[in-house]
Amino acid sequence: MNCLRSLDVIWAILFFFAFVQTSRSCWGPGSLQYGYTTSDYDLNVGSDLIVDCILESGILPNINVSVNSSYLIFQRDSNHQIFSSYTHQIDKLTSQLRIPNANVSDSGLYHCQIVFPDNSKHLVCSTKVFVGYPPKNVSNFKCISRNFDNLTCTWEIESSYIKTTYTLTVNLLSDDISMHCPEPNNDTFCQWTEDTNPPYFTMIRNLTFVINGNNSLGTIENIFKFDHFAIVIPN
Ligand SMILES: *[C@@H]1O[C@H](CO)[C@@H](O)[C@H](O)[C@H]1NC(C)=O
Ligand SMILES: *[C@@H]1O[C@H](CO)[C@@H](O)[C@H](O)[C@H]1NC(C)=O
Ligand SMILES: *[C@@H]1O[C@H](CO)[C@@H](O)[C@H](O)[C@H]1NC(C)=O
Ligand SMILES: *[C@@H]1O[C@H](CO)[C@@H](O)[C@H](O)[C@H]1NC(C)=O
Ligand SMILES: *[C@@H]1O[C@H](CO)[C@@H](O)[C@H](O)[C@H]1NC(C)=O
Ligand SMILES: *[C@@H]1O[C@H](CO)[C@@H](O)[C@H](O)[C@H]1NC(C)=O
Ligand SMILES: *[C@@H]1O[C@H](CO)[C@@H](O)[C@H](O)[C@H]1NC(C)=O
Ligand SMILES: *[C@@H]1O[C@H](CO)[C@@H](O)[C@H](O)[C@H]1NC(C)=O
Repeated sequence: MNCLRSLDVIWAILFFFAFVQTSRSCWGPGSLQYGYTTSDYDLNVGSDLIVDCILESGILPNINVSVNSSYLIFQRDSNHQIFSSYTHQIDKLTSQLRIPNANVSDSGLYHCQIVFPDNSKHLVCSTKVFVGYPPKNVSNFKCISRNFDNLTCTWEIESSYIKTTYTLTVNLLSDDISMHCPEPNNDTFCQWTEDTNPPYFTMIRNLTFVINGNNSLGTIENIFKFDHFAIVIPN
């Protein structure tokens, strides 16, 4: 048992280092380092999707055969598509995948492989690219107070196809005093009651809600103003 446990720990450590290293330079235990590719990134729809693959050396370390960037191919993980017409040799050791005018369906994990003289393929490194949009404006923003006992705001969002977060705050009295959304909440829902932290602010007449949308391609701010009395549904 103990022996198994410690083996687990060793595997966990090895796995951790393999992960940390592969995410930087594709250098895991037991594998040879042929080269590396562009780091993972998010891309705007309509831009060119570019992945560089760079060989460490013009000599293959294990079999002592000289190679150059013409031995490199790009293949997409999901459908194994090979992009020969989009692959360009930049220099002796660098090959570049360039897909013009990318759209969301081009998102994926792109593998750079080296084809050995015996036609076997070996992974050099992989790059994950998500193609999407900056955050979109929210729509259908609604807030309802039930008898001043609780205040519930909901809104709709449109997918940006990349990881995006929306946060709601409400400005009280002035822009300088704002309250965040109590837990539990999510990207399209927020609720204040007397028991939440922060609690429901029943005394404020003019409500200004601010939604911030945020992802790696941009940010948005949407502002909604309400007369508090106008959104109360009495019991
Ligand atoms: C690699 O090949 C070159 C010439 O092809 C030779 O001079 C060299 O000794 C070889 N190195 C190894 C480690 O086999
Ligand atoms: C790359 O290797 C190929 C095949 O061995 C060779 O035909 C080509 O001239 C080489 N290119 C460069 C830039 O060395
Ligand atoms: C995205 O591009 C793929 C191929 O590059 C194409 O098949 C697809 O129709 C495009 N989708 C949109 C929404 O333009
Ligand atoms: C969001 O709305 C603002 C005005 O409220 C507008 O200027 C902006 O272009 C909109 N953004 C998007 C992505 O629709
Ligand atoms: C909100 O307040 C209304 C009216 O008092 C009550 O019926 C409802 O259960 C409350 N909802 C929550 C989630 O507290
Ligand atoms: C957000 O939370 C509310 C209340 O818990 C729930 O009704 C709604 O389905 C949730 N929305 C998402 C997208 O998870
Ligand atoms: C609330 O807004 C109205 C008009 O939008 C304004 O006349 C009033 O002075 C405001 N009240 C407070 C307390 O800010
Ligand atoms: C966007 O979100 C990231 C991560 O949550 C955060 O570090 C950054 O400050 C946010 N940017 C804006 C403009 O809110």
